[in-house]
Amino acid sequence: MTELLAQVDLNRLPRHIAIIMDGNGRWAKERGEDRVYGHYEGVVSVREIVDICGEIGIGHLTLYAFSAENWNRPKAEVDALMELLVNTIRKEVNDLHKNNVKLHVIGDFASLPPMAQKEMGEAMEITAMNTGLNLILALSYSSRQEIVLAARKLADMVVTGTLQPQDIDETLFTRCLDTALFPDPELMIRTSGESRISNFLLFQLAYAELYFTPVHWPDFRKEHLLNALLDYQGRERRFGKTSEQIKNSTTPDV
Ligand code: FPP
Repeated sequence: MTELLAQVDLNRLPRHIAIIMDGNGRWAKERGEDRVYGHYEGVVSVREIVDICGEIGIGHLTLYAFSAENWNRPKAEVDALMELLVNTIRKEVNDLHKNNVKLHVIGDFASLPPMAQKEMGEAMEITAMNTGLNLILALSYSSRQEIVLAARKLADMVVTGTLQPQDIDETLFTRCLDTALFPDPELMIRTSGESRISNFLLFQLAYAELYFTPVHWPDFRKEHLLNALLDYQGRERRFGKTSEQIKNSTTPDV
């Protein structure tokens, strides 16, 4: 771990890491356990990754904890996931606060059970003034829905005459997304061997480096995150320019 950490250039970290925490169910099944056991063990990984991100100075970490599509899972699994979320936040909020972590939620907050809304709302209030890691939980989140709602907000402004269609640009559109306050993710990690984005931050990931690992989420540890960072730092981010232009540029890559 220390050796790996020494190889990471702390001056060239992504400002925002987004993670699709996949494979909890398969991890549990491989051990002859119920899928929910995988989600419980997944929380251990969440804690590790939040810790290391805070330690090394990552500004933003978004975790895809529950997609809008996940409501279609068996009721017992959905209930267990919501209960796990509530219990984890309740248990961890003091440590998050002590570690200067600021909690945010993106997604359809109103669709969460009242208990989850209450617990998340209180945790966001407690950590609101913190200045360290921004921990963003995507809950009941659908990127398409987020984009549609942004379009609707802009359309409303046009109808009421407060906005001209020609004034709609990327900056304004970005401000209408749930992630308005955050920089775009520069690194997106998906565990468990699937190479899909699954309705996650579709607009925001436009220039992100994508990193797929076969490791199931409950096995994902600090070392895996550091390996993803090393891989990221080994890539050339061109943003549509040529390799020569990037090499001759005086500004550091972002
Ligand atoms: C995907 O694995 C994982 C989820 C749908 C839930 C992730 C949630 C946690 C790790 C707990 C979150 C807790 C906090 C506090 C953020 P899957 O069930 O789709 O796995 P599979 O693809 O193997 O079936």
